[in-house]
Amino acid sequence: MSTHTPHNAPTTADDDTPLGDVDAERRALIVNATKAFGLAGAACVALPFISSMNPSRSVKAMATIDVPLSEIPLGDAKTYLWQGKPVFVWHRNAEQIAAAQQGDATATMDPAKDADRVQKAEWLVVMGVCSHLGCVPMRGGDHGGWRCPCHGSQFDDSGRVRVGPAGTNLEVPPYRFLDDATIRIG
Ligand code: FES
Repeated sequence: MSTHTPHNAPTTADDDTPLGDVDAERRALIVNATKAFGLAGAACVALPFISSMNPSRSVKAMATIDVPLSEIPLGDAKTYLWQGKPVFVWHRNAEQIAAAQQGDATATMDPAKDADRVQKAEWLVVMGVCSHLGCVPMRGGDHGGWRCPCHGSQFDDSGRVRVGPAGTNLEVPPYRFLDDATIRIG
């Protein structure tokens, strides 16, 4: 028995699919295409935004700095810039190390052992940022380390605060020895 299309369901020229079904398929196609364009558009808008959130090459470069220790004479401290802030690297001699260790007993404002603030006794690495209001301390003062020019705080041979108004020690930044001659800060 042959099938035939009902009179109220028109067909396409070359198959028996009712035109109502074709319209539904077209609608679905258009809706899907629109969604795809929408997603692509969102991606186009989002990409510059996302890439603007990535750190620039120069910022990445400053995320760590390598300090060649051979450029710091025994007994001297040098200042390096890390992430826009000064870091003091002090090549302490035997006398300075002894003074820092003796200070374990007398540094009472923010007590800390010198051995816990260094990885190797001859190298002290601290942020050059006063813990009071952020000025950059200078070598000097009565305690072997630094004196802040802004309000007179003083720090000892281990970067511990000895005279206020600062109330906490100079911060030790993250760092590690890459070898005996180089430290990486950051
Ligand atoms: S900022 Fe250093 S003592 Fe005030």
